[in-house]
Amino acid sequence: MKFFVDTADVSEIRSLAEAGLVDGVTTNPSLVAKSGRKIAEVIAEICDVTPGPVSAEVTATDLEGMLSEGRYLAKIADNVAVKVPLTEAGLRACRTLRDEGTMVNVTLCFTPQQALLAAKARATFISPFIGRLDDIGQDGMTLIDDIMQIYSHYDFETEVLVASVRNPLHIVRAAKLGAHVATLPPSVIRALFKHPLTDKGLEAFLADWKKTGQSIL
Ligand code: E4P
Repeated sequence: MKFFVDTADVSEIRSLAEAGLVDGVTTNPSLVAKSGRKIAEVIAEICDVTPGPVSAEVTATDLEGMLSEGRYLAKIADNVAVKVPLTEAGLRACRTLRDEGTMVNVTLCFTPQQALLAAKARATFISPFIGRLDDIGQDGMTLIDDIMQIYSHYDFETEVLVASVRNPLHIVRAAKLGAHVATLPPSVIRALFKHPLTDKGLEAFLADWKKTGQSIL
């Protein structure tokens, strides 16, 4: 499973990349707004940090606008994946941008039928938002299960990019379903390392070791 980082915070991306945990990056208009930076500048900097796909989202909602913005974003670096919303115009833009050789991430997917349409539009990635479904009392992971099952019957090029991830269990369940990619906020990546018994066990080992008066080197 590939790990993308879901942030526009370049220092966080750099630090996780040094740990070998960044296969790509996703951003969205809210994350870019939070960074307080110009989109072209921040996307260019992220693309320098990682060679993996870096999603940059259009904000136009009509086809022509999405295509103009998408082409502008795609020119920033070879590893930009243009992100378009799962609307009819978004999927038309997806098809055109794919024909032009641009990677496309179709975002805001909440149903298996939307994911099927994105695959037919030759999306590079489909982003089902599982946390936002959990938030409204539905089981987001059922959506991943449904999409993986549907895609397994066909030869689609689209990869399932699990998005709106809120906790480590989301990753475990998505990996068990064979999802290709998950995009994680930096806090969730760091939480993957953690278990209280790891901390407790290490503390006990070090306390016992101290009593021996030995040092390994
Ligand atoms: C993915 O591409 C989105 O940027 C992100 O995962 C949305 O997550 P949220 O629902 O926590 O805002």
